[in-house]
This record gives sequence, structure tokens and C-alpha cells, in this order.
Amino acid sequence: MNPSAISTQTLSQENEVIAMTQTIQEQAMINGGIIRPLVYIPHNTIRVVGRLCFGPDFNNEGFVIGIDPLIDDVINLSGLARFSDAFPFIRYIPGLWGSFRQATEILDRVMSILQSEITHYQSSKSPCTTCYLHFLLSHGYPMETIISILFEMFLLSVDSTSSTIAWALAFLIRNPEIQQKLFKEVSGGDEKRERVTVYQVNKMSYLQAGVNEVFRMKPIAPLAIPHKTVKDTTLKGLKIDKGTAVIVNIYAVHHDPKVWDHPEQFMPERFLNENARNVSVAMEQSFLPFGAGMRICAGMDLGKLQVGLTLANLINKFEWVAADGDGPNMTDDYTAILRMKEPLVAGIKLRTNLGTTLS
Ligand code: HEM
Repeated sequence: MNPSAISTQTLSQENEVIAMTQTIQEQAMINGGIIRPLVYIPHNTIRVVGRLCFGPDFNNEGFVIGIDPLIDDVINLSGLARFSDAFPFIRYIPGLWGSFRQATEILDRVMSILQSEITHYQSSKSPCTTCYLHFLLSHGYPMETIISILFEMFLLSVDSTSSTIAWALAFLIRNPEIQQKLFKEVSGGDEKRERVTVYQVNKMSYLQAGVNEVFRMKPIAPLAIPHKTVKDTTLKGLKIDKGTAVIVNIYAVHHDPKVWDHPEQFMPERFLNENARNVSVAMEQSFLPFGAGMRICAGMDLGKLQVGLTLANLINKFEWVAADGDGPNMTDDYTAILRMKEPLVAGIKLRTNLGTTLS
């Protein structure tokens, strides 16, 4: 996860985003300009994380397509998992046996897909020695532990980045003037920019502000990941015993009206540094989309980059519009991740600066 490992991926990341915009364009042409972005977006993060885990030569489309629905299935079951952690006896309730059977079946599929990738790595003549799998194998962990750690990487990275991008597109459809402002930045004014690069993305202040505003409005892990105190402690005078589960309400912090003006309003401008008054210390301390402290998100830099790069290229190439009169439904669906209740369906129009039309 270190910056140098991430930067070796830059060219592949850019090429994959461009290939994805091409696929989206082709699918939109077939479907009268309407697409479901979440069919395409997750695959790119799987490829990036796949290279970090298995080495830069990782190129297994069967794995990419196979693991995508498994991640979805596990997230959908996560509510049940939390419930059964709290009330272990629920596994004896006959009405829930089906869900537990399903969980076991999903676990078998997770084991099988990762085991076969690990076997492939181990049988390679020159296996990569800088990837995460090499690190895990060299520590001699049991295979079940290695598989579980690897799967966690995909589980925590794929839906978080994809859902944030989907929320961002939905906000931009609902706020066309903000989308236009963003387009102006990502397209570089009048230039006919074929692609937006990682280097350019890192310099785009309005894009970064927009991405931060999406992270604020829709923190993908609104209650972070539950933690447990390792010793007796106190928090603002409140005594907390060792072993107590502590859950941080990131969503509430991000919507605190004492810190954020009009917290329910989508306003990227609040994050623009040009106006130093805007980004106050209180805002900085109340902005925790990746958690904080020792257990802060391990993929924060990669996640920010993947969201910014994908969004910049999707906006550079297409104008995003409502698929129907009402525009996207912004209602939350909270499992382990804050997703859209109705997965985004959007209309796209090819930007006129790039020529041809879609339908
Ligand atoms: C939009 C992107 C992402 C968001 C908003 C996000 C958010 C978070 C949050 C809130 C946590 C919990 C932190 C806590 O418990 O305090 C977390 C943990 C974690 N995330 Fe992310 N994440 C993102 C992308 C990624 C990516 C791309 C990866 C990996 C490539 C990743 C790997 C992890 C891991 C391994 C943990 C567990 C860290 C630990 O428990 O020590 N995340 N993430």
C-alpha cells in the first residue's frame, strides 16, 4: 500500500479507466444512451488490488469476474453477520438456516477462487517477491488466514471505491452546474483532452473538493469498523471497560450543523483551499471518511486516487444526465457499506469536444 507500490500502477490504472469508458460508450450505444455504471466500475479496482496482492503480472479476467459477485454477496450478508455476533443463538432459528447455509456456500467459493490464484502464483517460475501474497506466505501463516486476509483486501476496497464513484455521479446529475464546472477543470478548458492522467488529477483542486464533498455526504463506512478497547479507559469523562465494542458514528460527525454550513447540501466549494476561511480546523477534525488513528483505512491513498481518476475520465468523456425525469434516487441502503438503495442508472451523452454521438 505504500506510495511507490501504488505509483508503479499508474499507467495500467489509466489504461484500464480509458478501456472502461470505451466499454461504457459501446454499451450506451446499444441501450439508447442509458447505462448502469456499477456493472463496469468495480472491475478496475479488482485489477489494481489484484496486482498489489499477486504481483504486477496479475492478469486473470476469470478471477476479476468471479470475485465481483462474491464481494457483493458477502456485503449483503454482513447485516446478518453483525446480528449473529451480538446474538450467537440466532443461528439456531430455523428461519435463518437458509442464510447460514448461503454464508457457508459463499465461503467455499471465496476459498476456491483465492486458493486457485495462490496455486497459480506458487507454480510460477519467477513469482513476484514484492507483492502482498509473497509477504503473507513468507510469514508462514496458515492458508485459511492468508485467504481471509486477501479477501478482506478486495472486500474493503472494491465496493467502497465503486459506491463512492456512483454517489458522485448521482450528485453531479442532480447538480448540472457543478458538473459543468468540474468538466471545465478536467477537460482543461477548450483542449480536446483524450484522457485525464494521474498527474493531472493530483493537481485538480475542484475535483478534489468535489470528491471530498462526496466522502463527507456519503461516508461509505458510516459507522467505520467496530473496534474494541484493549484496556480500561475514559472518553470525555465516560468510563469504558476493557473489551467494550466501540462504534464511531462518522455519518453524524460529517453532518454536524455546528461544524458544517447546510450539512445536507452538496457544496464542493466548502473544501476549496482558496478561501482559507472555508476549511476550518473544526472541519478538518470532523472529516473522517477513512477513519482515524492506528486502524485508519490501509488503502486511503489508493482509494482517493481511484475515485478521482475514474470520475475525471467519466466526466471528461460523457455528460451525465438523468435516465428518467426524476433523476437518481439518493436514498441510502446501509449494509456494511452505505450504498445507493437503487443502484445508479444514468443517461450519458458523448461530450461534443470529442466528436460523435451515442444514439
Ligand atoms: C473510497 C475509498 C475508501 C473508503 C472511503 C474507505 C474507508 C475505510 C474506513 C472508514 C475504514 C475503517 C477505519 C476504522 O476502523 O477506523 C477502512 C478500513 C480499511 N480499508 Fe478502506 N476505504 C476505502 C478504500 C480502500 C482501499 C482501496 C483499500 C485497499 C486497497 C482499503 C483497505 C482497507 C483495509 C485493509 C482496512 C482495515 C484497516 C485496519 O483495520 O487496520 N480501503 N476503510
